[in-house]
Amino acid sequence: MPGIALVGLQWGDEGKGKVTDLLARDTDVVVRYQGGNNAGHTIVVEGERYALHLIPTGILYPHCIPVIGPGVVVNPQVLLEEMTALTGRGVDVSRLMLSGNAHLIMPYHLELDKVTERRLGKNRLGTTKRGIGPAYADKASRIGLRVQDLLDPKIFKEKLEVALKEKNVVLTRVYGRLPIEHQAVEEEYLSYAQQLRPHIADTSNFVQHALDDGKTVLFEGAQATMLDLDHGTYPYVTSSNPIAGGATVGAGVGPKDIDRIIGITKAYCTRVGSGPFPSEADPVEAEILVEAGGEYGTTTGRKRRCGWFDVVVGRYAARLNTLTEFVVTKLDVLSEFDRIKVCVAYEFEGDRFDEFPPNQTIFNKCKAIYEELPGWKEDITKTTRLEDLPKEARAYLEYIEGLLNVPVSWASVGPGREQIVQVK
Ligand code: GDP
Ligand code: IMO
Ligand code: MG
Repeated sequence: MPGIALVGLQWGDEGKGKVTDLLARDTDVVVRYQGGNNAGHTIVVEGERYALHLIPTGILYPHCIPVIGPGVVVNPQVLLEEMTALTGRGVDVSRLMLSGNAHLIMPYHLELDKVTERRLGKNRLGTTKRGIGPAYADKASRIGLRVQDLLDPKIFKEKLEVALKEKNVVLTRVYGRLPIEHQAVEEEYLSYAQQLRPHIADTSNFVQHALDDGKTVLFEGAQATMLDLDHGTYPYVTSSNPIAGGATVGAGVGPKDIDRIIGITKAYCTRVGSGPFPSEADPVEAEILVEAGGEYGTTTGRKRRCGWFDVVVGRYAARLNTLTEFVVTKLDVLSEFDRIKVCVAYEFEGDRFDEFPPNQTIFNKCKAIYEELPGWKEDITKTTRLEDLPKEARAYLEYIEGLLNVPVSWASVGPGREQIVQVK
C-alpha cells in the first residue's frame, strides 16, 4: 500500500503536520501537492516546535525525501529562509526536491493580494496575504512564471516583462500604487536561482518511480476540504484543491497509486478568516476552546474562530475524499467541558439538512442542530492506550465514527509526537 494521501477535513489547522510527522517515520517520500506558504504545519519533537510553511513535514526524518510538487506555488525567498532556519537547527535540507513546474509567487502577487483585500473591505476573504490567489490566477491565465524559468535568465526576463506590463497598469491605475521595477525583481529572483538549482527536478517522474519501486509515498495536503476552490465554501476558500483528488493532479501521479486516504479533523472545529461557519460556538465557549487549544494561527498569528464538531461537514469531507480512515486531533482540548456539543444537522427555513446543502445561501444562513454528549473532565494528555481513555472520550470517538461511517485510526491528545492513541 505505497500511496497515502493525508487531507484536512475542515477549514485547516487540523493537525496535519503532527500526523504527517507520525506517518513519516515509515515513509520514504513526503510530497506537498498544493498551496504555498499560506500553510503552517506544526510539529513538536521532544518539546521543540517546528512550524513549516512550504517544506514538507518529512524533512525532519533523515530517511525521508521531501518533495515540493508541481501543484504548489512557491515563494523562493520564503523557501530559502525556511531552508536556512532548518539548517540552523541541525536539519539536513540537501534532500529537498522542488518541481520545475511549480509556479512562482512574485512580488506583485503579494502586493495584489494585499490591495485586493483592502478593496473588498467588509467582503474581504481574510487571506493570509501570501500572494496565493494572484499566483494561482496567473497560472490559470497562463502568464505565470515557473521554477524552471529561474534556470533560463533570458526566458525569465521575457516572461517577467510580459507579466509586469499588465500588473503595473493594475497596480498604478486601479490601486494607485507604485509600479514594480523589472530590474530589481529580476536580480532578486535570479540570485535565488543559484541557491535553488541543486533542488530543482522532475519530481513527478521521481515520485512515480518511487511508487513503482514499492516505496511509501505520503501526499501531505495543506489547507483543507472546506477551503477547496471547487468544493469548499466559495468564495471563502483558498485557490487550490486540497482534497485527495488534488494530490494526483498536484503531484503528477495517477489516481490508482493512492491506496490509503487519511482525513484529519479536530475533535471540535476552527476556521481562520471570513466565511460561513454554522457550528461556530458562542463567545464564552469559543474562548475556552481558543485558550485550551492555543487557537492562534501558525502562519498569521490570527485568533482562530472556534466551534463544535460538524458532522455534516465531516460526512461531506468523507465522501469528497473517499476516506479510508480518519484521525481525531486535539481530543484533550475537550477535557475542559462538562457537556460536549456536536452539530448533527442544519436547519434552514423549517427544513432539516443532514447532507451538505447544495446552495451556499443555505449554508450561510442555516442554524446548527446540536446533540450533546457527556464530557470527561480529566487530563488525557498522557494517555497512550485506548483502554486508558475515559469511557466518555471513547464514546465520543465512537459517536463521530458512527456518524461519518469511516473508521477512526488514531486520536491525538496533545501536540507532541508521543501524544497519540491508536484506536484501530
Ligand atoms: P496543520 O496546519 O493542520 O498542520 O495544523 P497547525 O499546526 O496549523 O495547527 C494545529 C495546532 O495544534 C498546532 O499548534 C499543533 O502543535 C497543535 N496540536 C496538534 N495536535 C494536537 C493535539 O492533539 N492536542 C493539542 N492540544 N494540540 C495539538
Ligand atoms: P494549513 O495548511 C487555515 C485560509 C485563510 C483564508 C482563506 C484564503 O495550515 O491548514 P489564502 O491565503 O489561501 O488565499 O487564504 O484560506 N487559509 C487557511 N486557514 N489553515 C491553512 O493552512 C490555511 N491556508 C489558507 O485564512 O480564510
Ligand atoms: Mg496550519
